[in-house]
Amino acid sequence: MDCRVHFFDDAYAPVELTAGATLSEHLDVGNSPLLFGCRTGICGTCLVRVEGELPPPSEEERELVEMLAPGDPQARLACQLRLVGDVRVGPHPEAG
Ligand code: FES
Repeated sequence: MDCRVHFFDDAYAPVELTAGATLSEHLDVGNSPLLFGCRTGICGTCLVRVEGELPPPSEEERELVEMLAPGDPQARLACQLRLVGDVRVGPHPEAG
């Protein structure tokens, strides 16, 4: 099954990826408005706001996201996201 990644910023075309793909392996500054740093869930650079079906965050991701964007249920770390369905995503206002 293919999953479609839409961006809140319409300047970027949606990206089609297979289910199970990790965003950090397929997205970069050339095809998305998302920024990545460590890509291992430590730096917080890739904080995003995301809508759609996603696996729940790991304990580590949950803790960092809660520190960076307290109380925001749509906040996630893009580098930790594995696709299971269509999503809409964009940089989080607290990112960077
Ligand atoms: S790129 Fe560093 S936490 Fe995602």
